[in-house]
Amino acid sequence: MKFQAPKGVSEYAPPRSLHFEVVRESLISAAVQAGYLLMELPVFEDTELFARGVGETTDVVTKEMYTFEDRGGRSITLRPEGTAGVMRAVIEHGLDRGQLPVKVWYSGAFFRAERPQAGRYRQFYQVGIEAIGLNDPEIDAEVIATADRSLKKLGLKDYRLEITSLGDSQSRKAHRVDLDKFIAGLDLDEATRTKAQVNPLRLFDDKRESVQKQMENAPLLLNYLSEESTAHFNAVQSLLQSFGIDFLINKRMVRGLDYYTGTTFEFIHEKLGAQSGIGGGGRYDGLMKQLGGADLSGIGYGMGVDRILLACQSEEIELAPLGKLDLFAIALGEEAKLKVAQIVNQLRNAGLTVDMAYGDRALKSAMKMADKSGAKFSLVLGADELQMESIAVKNMDSGESQSVTISSLEEFLRDS
Ligand code: HAM
Repeated sequence: MKFQAPKGVSEYAPPRSLHFEVVRESLISAAVQAGYLLMELPVFEDTELFARGVGETTDVVTKEMYTFEDRGGRSITLRPEGTAGVMRAVIEHGLDRGQLPVKVWYSGAFFRAERPQAGRYRQFYQVGIEAIGLNDPEIDAEVIATADRSLKKLGLKDYRLEITSLGDSQSRKAHRVDLDKFIAGLDLDEATRTKAQVNPLRLFDDKRESVQKQMENAPLLLNYLSEESTAHFNAVQSLLQSFGIDFLINKRMVRGLDYYTGTTFEFIHEKLGAQSGIGGGGRYDGLMKQLGGADLSGIGYGMGVDRILLACQSEEIELAPLGKLDLFAIALGEEAKLKVAQIVNQLRNAGLTVDMAYGDRALKSAMKMADKSGAKFSLVLGADELQMESIAVKNMDSGESQSVTISSLEEFLRDS
């Protein structure tokens, strides 16, 4: 029997995994650069956490969760997103009672039982951040700028940033009165009407043409912002402008998760077709309180590593592998093999990145391996070199060789 990976998962084997790694590390480094600290979370949680946190009307909760009963009869769900888990952990560790804002980043696999297609997987990867406990436009701008920087660091250009505001509770209440009235006059089936009663904003996100058409003239939340929410949103825009970050205001943006309030945003890549959302996020007043913690607001994002890798490929960006080998070593003959193994082990102990040809390869095929390895230098050690205690070390870029004594090899590699 031949096993295959489960349907719709994304997985990365070498050499593509090296590109995936470059993307993921670049996204992480932008978060670290902005002062975010690692939060390492379990990939499964109590089902109720997501049902309550993400929202009962979302596709994620109603159709896409991987939920099962564990051996103790508890209902467990593979995490479909990161924010609810971060809130749970922040509350559990009492960080919400410490110094604010709490700024954390996370990275890993997430799970949604979606219909697989290019750029949409059932297991996918995100790098995300959350800044909790401060409701200032400065932190909104910091979060958006960090996401934008993480894309620019990779060299991406063909994407746009869309932003909107879902306002505070006063804004949403005022909007809801008019939206409910508007929806009451539409021709909708029972299930859709029930969904709209829980969260009428979901109808903006309905993919059916009949619903989309009817929603064309629906009242838009952005036109109902309270004075305070308007001032906040204007301040975020001014800050983004002062950072030189371009954005568009999308009055009809609906995020797939229910917890959003205030500033919300999405990054859309122009060459990715249907699955063009490469990252998104926003503010979530009330989420932490709803999950049993302090009444703190927060804001964050999730960047889709898989889609960002596809975006880099579509822009033909060269992603140079991280951790390039300092040296690739080749032994000729039994005696030399032992010596090469020792040299390689010693250099690795000294912190250098080194690989070698194993087995009894002919010199030509071993040299091919050295070429493919991408190492900066290679060396060939045979009986002669053993006698002389010095080796010809070849610079793989220039093709030039230089004689180096075995004892000074480490220093040579470090200084080159
Ligand atoms: P989200 O928009 O659901 O937000 O997901 C963030 C990103 O994950 C998307 O923009 C997309 O790039 C990627 N993604 C989502 N689903 C899939 C999939 N099935 N296959 C491949 N990539 C996918 C969140 O998850 C929020 N927790 C973000 C957030 C953090 N908001 C506030 N804090």
